[in-house]
Amino acid sequence: MALRQIRIEGDPVLNKVCKEVKEITPRVKELIEDMLDTMYEANGVGLAAPQVGILKRIIVIDVTGEDPYVIINPKVIEKSGEQTGYEGCLSIPGKSGIVTRPNFAKISYKDENFEDRILEGTELLARAICHEMDHLDGHLYTELVEGDLVNMEDLQEEAEEEEQ
Ligand code: NI
Repeated sequence: MALRQIRIEGDPVLNKVCKEVKEITPRVKELIEDMLDTMYEANGVGLAAPQVGILKRIIVIDVTGEDPYVIINPKVIEKSGEQTGYEGCLSIPGKSGIVTRPNFAKISYKDENFEDRILEGTELLARAICHEMDHLDGHLYTELVEGDLVNMEDLQEEAEEEEQ
């Protein structure tokens, strides 16, 4: 297991446009493994290659903790509907903000074997797909946030108070 350092907002690498992957090389394979390890270690549901300083169009997503998707060179086929809710990013630790995203997303991409694939998802998966694809074009969710960023700790306290 190899962890990579997650780049934090303000690092210029997070604002660059990533390049398409042309083939699966040993280095790309290693990068994908490291991205999965790094995402799980950080308890994230998604990670994009620029977040570990690599300007390649690769993202990993796992919204259930046991069903990882390795997504290379993704292209949007369809986005529809709308969902509004809190969103966070491993590059903006401890913060969260309200973002409106499509409630459905369908993409084409290549998997870790460079096979053509289609993925469609709703709710959290759709949100993760859109969030991570934005990273590949140098965009962070803070550009879309409605209102102020809040501390995740405050959100958790609010949720606990509501439960009581
Ligand atoms: Ni992010």
